[in-house]
Amino acid sequence: MSDEPARTRQQPAGATAEPLLEIRGLRTYFSTEAGEAKAVDGVDLRIGRGEVVGLVGESGSGKSVTALSVLRLIPDPPGHIVGGQVLFKGRDLLTLSWEEMRAIRGREISMIFQEPMTSLNPVFTIGMQLVEVMQAHGAAAEADAGRRAIEMLTRVGIPDAASRMSQYPHELSGGMRQRVMIAIALMLNPSLLIADEPTTALDVTIQAQILDLMLDLRDADGESAILLITHNLAVVAQTCDRVAVMYGGKVQEAAPVEALFREPRHPYTQGLLASLPRVDGERARRLTTIPGSVPDIHALPVGCKFVTRCTRRFEPCAGIEPELVEVAPGHQVRCHLYPGPS
Ligand SMILES: Nc1ncnc2c1ncn2[C@@H]1O[C@H](COP(=O)(O)OP(=O)(O)OP(=O)(O)O)[C@@H](O)[C@H]1O
Ligand SMILES: [Mg+2]
Repeated sequence: MSDEPARTRQQPAGATAEPLLEIRGLRTYFSTEAGEAKAVDGVDLRIGRGEVVGLVGESGSGKSVTALSVLRLIPDPPGHIVGGQVLFKGRDLLTLSWEEMRAIRGREISMIFQEPMTSLNPVFTIGMQLVEVMQAHGAAAEADAGRRAIEMLTRVGIPDAASRMSQYPHELSGGMRQRVMIAIALMLNPSLLIADEPTTALDVTIQAQILDLMLDLRDADGESAILLITHNLAVVAQTCDRVAVMYGGKVQEAAPVEALFREPRHPYTQGLLASLPRVDGERARRLTTIPGSVPDIHALPVGCKFVTRCTRRFEPCAGIEPELVEVAPGHQVRCHLYPGPS
């Protein structure tokens, strides 16, 4: 990836931008044999128009479940959205009919899934699947759709795109399939793109190209927003305006990207950033990780979700869950070290 400053920085800081998506108190649980898994348990997240927001956190923190809940794609059973609101352009998606939801998926909000293998249909050609997306939304006549499909495949770095149109998913490598998924997601210029680990399966050059392409979507009208779920903090630093850090089914800290990297407040965020490999002066710093492991999802602590691993815990942490409080403009943290106004 290049060292150029991210283009996104010219955009207004998120907290003041008009919200495109506002998730309030979202709770999504799974009924399992071991009991109720509170995968997402009170997520608050706001995405302004034209904003690129990163969502980070260790495996199992609830990032994908949050994203799938927005589009109401949680497998039910075993999952169910038990509370909260997902306001998109002011409408609560959780109250829409399936038909209204279908009109929004792909057209208004599209998603690049973490597992691309399962999201292409094995019995249709790549071309049919791309064209179908446009026709399902009445977006183009067949000839135009075909042209646009080839153009999109080329833009996501698929060589000889015209001949790929007649191939089936199994004839493509994993990386190529991922690019097809990205082409499908970008095809209709959605207002919101949710990208769940979109580039993990791809090599570094293609990763940079795909991230650029996603930012182009936003830059084209200055309105489209992106929710980028990733484990790669370097990608967040380069592409995002704001970042939210999840742990134990909740957002623990959210801030403009510079503020979060410069002055992380939550001990969990501090741990995540300390685990980044860094070169300080002439000596590479050793890679550290946060001691301990993510608690069992069926037995999360009643107080702060991070209490079992936190070196700065004190009396209230085990018993009382802290609120998300604003510690600086647009910078929120959920930690008893920052009591907030009382
Ligand atoms: N279908 C399901 N049935 C039961 N539990 C589930 C299901 N899907 C997710 N979960 C649980 O929800 C929790 C959050 O999962 P999620 O996939 O959102 O994590 P994530 O933050 O996306 O992790 P990763 O970084 O590994 O992708 C996990 O404990 C997971 O086991
Ligand atoms: Mg995930």
